[in-house]
This record gives sequence, structure tokens and C-alpha cells, in this order.
Amino acid sequence: MHPDPLTPYGNRPMVTPIVNAVNYEYASFEVLRQITEGEIDGYTYHRDDNPTVREVEKKIAALEEAEDCVICTSGMAACTMVYLTYLRAGDHLLLFHDIYGANYKVSLILERLGIEISWMNADDVHRIREYLRPNTRMVFLETPSNPLCKVVDIHAVRQAADTVGALLVVDNTFATPYHQKPLRHGAHLVVHSATKALGGHNDIMAGAIAGSKLYYNELWFTRQAIGTTLDAYSAFLLDRGLKTFEIRAAAMARGAEAVAEYLQKHPKVSRLSYPGLHSHPQHDVARKQMERGFGGMLAFDVGHHQEDARRFINGLQTIYHAVSLGATESLICVPHLTTMLYLPPERRAMFGVRENTVRLSIGIEPPEQLVADVQQALASV
Ligand SMILES: Cc1ncc(COP(=O)(O)O)c(C=O)c1O
Repeated sequence: MHPDPLTPYGNRPMVTPIVNAVNYEYASFEVLRQITEGEIDGYTYHRDDNPTVREVEKKIAALEEAEDCVICTSGMAACTMVYLTYLRAGDHLLLFHDIYGANYKVSLILERLGIEISWMNADDVHRIREYLRPNTRMVFLETPSNPLCKVVDIHAVRQAADTVGALLVVDNTFATPYHQKPLRHGAHLVVHSATKALGGHNDIMAGAIAGSKLYYNELWFTRQAIGTTLDAYSAFLLDRGLKTFEIRAAAMARGAEAVAEYLQKHPKVSRLSYPGLHSHPQHDVARKQMERGFGGMLAFDVGHHQEDARRFINGLQTIYHAVSLGATESLICVPHLTTMLYLPPERRAMFGVRENTVRLSIGIEPPEQLVADVQQALASV
């Protein structure tokens, strides 16, 4: 057997090594047998598993208080893997309107496969039992939601889902595990776009699904079959992002709170949604299931028309006009022209995304700099 080239003297590197191998040499026929019979966790082929990826999976599992975690190539890959693993033709999937827009596109594909889809508004969550069907196999939600930062009571939805034996899947991208651990509140699975705050630097795409060991095995099978395994370099960058994740998340929440408090008194801002504000309709639910603050995301309407949002965004100097979220830099976008662009207009209107609605993702800049930036930009509206 060759000595381990990464640790020839047994001293470990301070960073997770990037193992950029597609395949692995078997030490012997006996090792091959042990791997194929599941006696040891040896590596064989990148589509199956990779040591750099595995290291990050364990860290995200710990953050979500999960038994294990599957990492994949993007947040949408994670959502799709969950749908494909647990839904069959004839099953019903209940989705919330206010979730990341690409799920709408995936729902069109799932319908072609014979899966029944229906949608509900997060504001109607107290009536969720009316939306469940005997064949509802999965309920999928975001809290806080993208883009309107609506908050859904995870425990209450789990109780309803149990009446028909449906799986509850919670996309925790907006909240992040720093502020919210959905498994504690009854979710079966937690999904992430790790492209966002977990990675945190606008330089990788990745997804994560955390849950029990049983779910890990089933989702691992899907990933291995369809080939959505993350590359080792992105896994390394995600690992590096995780080292500062908690201090970044805390800074984002501080900045968001300061900006929200400023905006709530501003005459040119309406329908401000930040779960940490007492005026948020589900503030009590947010207090119950979130901790250490309320995250870095907020949504609001600027003036009355798209032109008002345009002037405001053009006036910003610190905050960048770009999609995505959870990064070190603050980012702002107009959902109806970006993440929700593909939704039929009447659907957007139905759940409250307007032409002048903006979604703001706070970064790690000093709160007073962010408040000053929105203040001066609103002066041009
Ligand atoms: C809440 C949420 N879930 C999932 C996704 C999809 O993630 P990705 O872009 O990594 O595929 C996004 C992307 O913005 C998101 O905001």
C-alpha cells in the first residue's frame, strides 16, 4: 500500500484537502469486496462520493442537528432530488406560492411525470388541512419565504401533514441554521441553496439536504444515479465559507434589523416585511421558531410604481443591484423581473409580488453604512 500522500508523517493539513479524483485505486480485492458489500466507506468514483464533499456534509449536518446531509450541485438540484426521491405518479405535492421561483419550473416537469401539484398561500396556513388530499405525499415550504419573507409555523404544518402521512420539507435558505433549525420543529428534511449564506461569497453553487440517516441513504442513491455530486473544489470553498458562517450570519441579522427599523418609519416605503419587526404579521411565530435574530433578508415596496423601485436601486452606492443572497456584500433585486419572472403575472399578483417590490439581502457591511445608503437612495424616489 502507498503511504497517504496528504499526511505522509501523520500530521494533518489545517484545511480540508481538495481531492480532485474521479476514481480511486483499490488497495486489494479484499478492499473492493468490503466497499461493494458496504462493510467500509471506501471511495470508488466521484459520482458516488468524494472525501472533500463528505467533510462538508458532516459539518452542515451538525449545523442542522441532522444525522447526515447530502451535498449536491445547486439548491435547485437539492429541491429536485427531494421531489424525485419521494414522489411517484399519482402522488400529490403541496407547494407554497411564496417559494423560490425555479420550483415553479420544476413543478411543470413533475406534472409531466404524473405528479399532482397544488399551491397555497402562506397567509392561509391556518387552513392547510383544506389543501391536503388523501394522496398528499409531500408539503414543501420556505420560512421565511423568498421573496416576501412570510413566516410559516413549521410545527403546525407538521401536525397537519401527519394527518395524511405527508413528508414535510423546509427550505431553510433564508433563515440559515444559525437562526432556525427546522428539524427541531418537525420538518422531516431541510433543504438549502448552499450557494447563499453557507457558502457566502458569491463564488460557488451548491445545494444541501439534511435529515435522518435513512433519508441520507435514499437521497444519496438519487444523487449517485443522476450525477448531481458537487465537485471537490466547490466543496472546499463551501467548507471555507462555513468557517465564518456564524459570524457572517450574526452580522447580517444586525444589519437587517437596523435597515428594517429605519425603513419602517420611511414614508416612501410600504408593506415592509422583516420577521424581526413587531409589525410582521407572523412575528410571534418567528420568535417561537427562530433564535439569535431573524436573518438578513427583507422585502418591501418602494413608492407606488416600478419607476420608484428603479430610481431607488439606481441611487444605491453600497448595496449592489444583483440577484442571489446571503453574501458578504448586500444585494438587492426586483423579484418580478428576476426570480419570479417566469411565473404567470396573475400568480405573482395573487401572492403579492408587485412591480415595485424589492428583495434586500443584507451583507456584512457596518449597519450604519447600510442605513445611510438606503436613506440617500430613497431621497431620489
Ligand atoms: C430559498 C431558495 N431556495 C433555493 C434556491 C435555488 O438555489 P440555487 O440557485 O443554488 O440552485 C434559491 C436561489 O435563489 C433560493 O433563494
